[in-house]
Amino acid sequence: MWAEKDIDRILVTEKEIENKAKELGAIITEDYKKMGSAPLLVGLLRGSVPFFTELAKNIDLDIEYDFMDVSSYVGRHSTGEIRIIKDLDTAVSGRDILLVEDIVDTGKTIQSVIELLYHRGASSVKIVTLLDKPSGRVNHLKADYIGFEVGNEFVIGFGMDFNQKYRCLPFIGVLKPECYQDKE
Ligand code: IMP
Repeated sequence: MWAEKDIDRILVTEKEIENKAKELGAIITEDYKKMGSAPLLVGLLRGSVPFFTELAKNIDLDIEYDFMDVSSYVGRHSTGEIRIIKDLDTAVSGRDILLVEDIVDTGKTIQSVIELLYHRGASSVKIVTLLDKPSGRVNHLKADYIGFEVGNEFVIGFGMDFNQKYRCLPFIGVLKPECYQDKE
């Protein structure tokens, strides 16, 4: 495998991600059935795409989906305000939204998106994330559905990148420090 030399260790395997998506899909299905609603699934580009597709097929409800691309960073610094790079095509007023993320780190990006969607009249906004990195959090944000918790390390694969590389790896791994040192 081309990236083997760059990977320190595998944190979550493809099979474990598949099983987790099934587990989360079943829980989400039950929760929204109880609410009597089918959510609008909103994926945040680009990192959420592999998890989004894995999860969506395991939600047994008449869902619709859409994507958004936002950035809260100028260079390497978070501004706390989001810039919309690609907006939703779907009106969210009166809808129950389920935001799909690859990883929640500081929590700033997702917090800003939640505020934007409520501002636009969404009835409810919940978050499902493949990974949670609570050590990075700078606010009180808590995802409603979490796949796996990770420590304070930089992870790649299954949608997550370093300088746009490694997104297509079928597992989640930790990058060797020499692969990002001097390249940030
Ligand atoms: P935050 O929660 O606003 O800090 O930003 C979350 C976004 O930062 C995620 O959607 C990822 O794109 C990126 N990110 C945070 N931690 C990592 C990581 O360990 N690997 C890859 N991307 C990360």
